[in-house]
Amino acid sequence: MTTTESNELGAEQLRARAAEALTRARARSIALTDAVDDEDLIKQHSKLMSPLVWDLAHIGSQEELWLVRDVGGREPLRPDIDDIYDAFQHARADRPALPLLGPAEARSYVREVREKAFDVLERVPLQGRRLTERAFAFGMVTQHEQQHDETMLATHQLRQGDPVLHAPEPPPARSGALPAEVLVPGGAFTMGTSAEPWALDNERPAHELAVDAFWMDTTPVTSGAYAEFLDGGGYDDEAWWSPEGWAYRTRNGITAPRFWKREQDGWWRTRFGVYERITADEPVVHVSYFEAEAYAAWAGRRLPTEAEWEKSARFDPATGRSRRFPWGDEEPGAEHANLGQRHLRPAPAGAYPAGASPTGVHQLIGDVWEWTSTDLYGYPGFAPFPYREYSEVFFGPEYKVLRGGSFGTDSAAIRGTFRNWDYPIRRQIFAGFRTARDAGPGEVG
Ligand SMILES: [Fe+2]
Repeated sequence: MTTTESNELGAEQLRARAAEALTRARARSIALTDAVDDEDLIKQHSKLMSPLVWDLAHIGSQEELWLVRDVGGREPLRPDIDDIYDAFQHARADRPALPLLGPAEARSYVREVREKAFDVLERVPLQGRRLTERAFAFGMVTQHEQQHDETMLATHQLRQGDPVLHAPEPPPARSGALPAEVLVPGGAFTMGTSAEPWALDNERPAHELAVDAFWMDTTPVTSGAYAEFLDGGGYDDEAWWSPEGWAYRTRNGITAPRFWKREQDGWWRTRFGVYERITADEPVVHVSYFEAEAYAAWAGRRLPTEAEWEKSARFDPATGRSRRFPWGDEEPGAEHANLGQRHLRPAPAGAYPAGASPTGVHQLIGDVWEWTSTDLYGYPGFAPFPYREYSEVFFGPEYKVLRGGSFGTDSAAIRGTFRNWDYPIRRQIFAGFRTARDAGPGEVG
């Protein structure tokens, strides 16, 4: 086989992989928007969110900009709507007032863009230009669509009314009794990636980083453990809260995780239109960074840094190598992690023994995004790509990094190096946390 032939074979596989990932994302966008009627699509369900019909056309608009116009060099389809769907031009709260495409128009727009994008995918060489190298632009657009699908899922959670989404229950706990925490050894490890083809600019480049030995919670903090903090008066005791966290809690009258309500017989919550008792062994979700931080202080612990999280998730002490995922280098399967909206809730602690990391940390990928104590900045050697607005404009002390993805994150949009970020007050996202502590002398692993 000649080099050209082997490059072409690689290119065909890349094209097939990109087409499959784009198709899966679109099936999900359609399912999330077909689940409600036109009135619900246009309506703003919360000031925190865009109308679903905005997300849908915005997905198409970004795909048109990157794949049809930039990669494909084709004529614009709808240059007149560029501004309406530019997330930097209009805050979410202002989007319902824009002259948005209606549901039927938005659906036919995204369909038309997708046909052109597939045509581009078939014809464009997947080498010679960084944007198309190993189908990067197609991977970026896929991840963008999946991220908006997760945002639309969060809008569904905020929506009032009867349940419209359905999914099977997640697997039960299968690990037996797990230790509460595991020791992650100190020393250098490789953080970030220079090799992952669809990794975004903020995950790059790979670099060596030394971390002191620490103890990490084996699983995310559960609703049952969190309820003990609540019932012990944790929300009324300033001692557990940072000054910013206490001010936030007081100003907003926060008394429990979002969607939780205290009844005579304990805590209940609303989940995609279903009112139900909280599940004690399920990771807590819909807590802000400030609540996570207060719980950790109450428990005599702290939130992990981003580097500690990544070392827990990727470092293999036997080889000294960093893996792509906690379980190894293979893509996430249903046995590894609760991803992709396969279930409409986090799975119980211990439900994914096959997804544990070499050091024995469970459920780092999927279930709930995990708050870390780290502000979002670029890694040493960071270079914006393909544009500053992807992540560089968010660098600074106002955003905290979240890791690992949630039950609403697709496998195309998560990996051991993936970095998410949000304001520390955010609660409508599918965020939970786990805690850590420094290893004492003699515990250094
Ligand atoms: Fe977007």
